Amino acid sequence: MTKKPVIAIDGFSSTGKSSISKIIAKKLGLIHMDTGALYRGVTYFALQNCTDENRNIDIQKLITNLSQVKLEFQNIDGELQLFLNGKNINREIRFPQVSDNVSQVAKEADVRNYLLKTQRDIAEKGGVIMDGRDIGTVVLPNADYKFFMTASQDERARRRFLELELAGEKTDIETVKQNLISRDKIDSEREVSPLKQADDAILIDNTNINKEETIGLILSSIKKF
Ligand code: DC
Repeated sequence: MTKKPVIAIDGFSSTGKSSISKIIAKKLGLIHMDTGALYRGVTYFALQNCTDENRNIDIQKLITNLSQVKLEFQNIDGELQLFLNGKNINREIRFPQVSDNVSQVAKEADVRNYLLKTQRDIAEKGGVIMDGRDIGTVVLPNADYKFFMTASQDERARRRFLELELAGEKTDIETVKQNLISRDKIDSEREVSPLKQADDAILIDNTNINKEETIGLILSSIKKF
């Protein structure tokens, strides 16, 4: 049997990267790794352990204490769940406070370097689909397949709003859109590993197509293995 592929899926937030990668992983028998979870895990650690008197994250303190951040994924019922120093934090990393602070943490070079090995180790044996912002450009430049996902800001805001509404969170679409715009800006303009399409990535704009159609498009580019 030929080696299972390594697939990199990058792109803007709320383009469905993670949920689509999860489904493709199931269909093709690959491991799915949501790398955004790692940045969220570090942010959660910082909010617990490295804040100043105003409860804001103290980045210097975080960087000094990075070696205490032991993040690992464990396979629970076929899904990788994130553990921080032995505690399952899969639910906590989705808290709004984490979402609001994660871009600030993710732009730090020390944080990115610290997480690089964890990501590369997972891909070493092949058979993985990894989603994030810099997978095709920095983490796995030799991935067998690279995709870059985008959609209009209005459509992404609409999707995110519906998701939050379903989760019972009170918000409005304009607030959601502003949060999205600010995260896009920080992610795309940061100095280290900014969010951008790799030269050899296939661009997928799913503004006007649904999840199934997006999955179909991606699968049609992947050769049988
Ligand atoms: O995909 P997400 O929303 O869970 O990502 C959370 C944050 O982490 C987001 O601000 C971008 C950042 N991130 C990154 O910089 N590089 C990655 N490979 C994945 C996520």
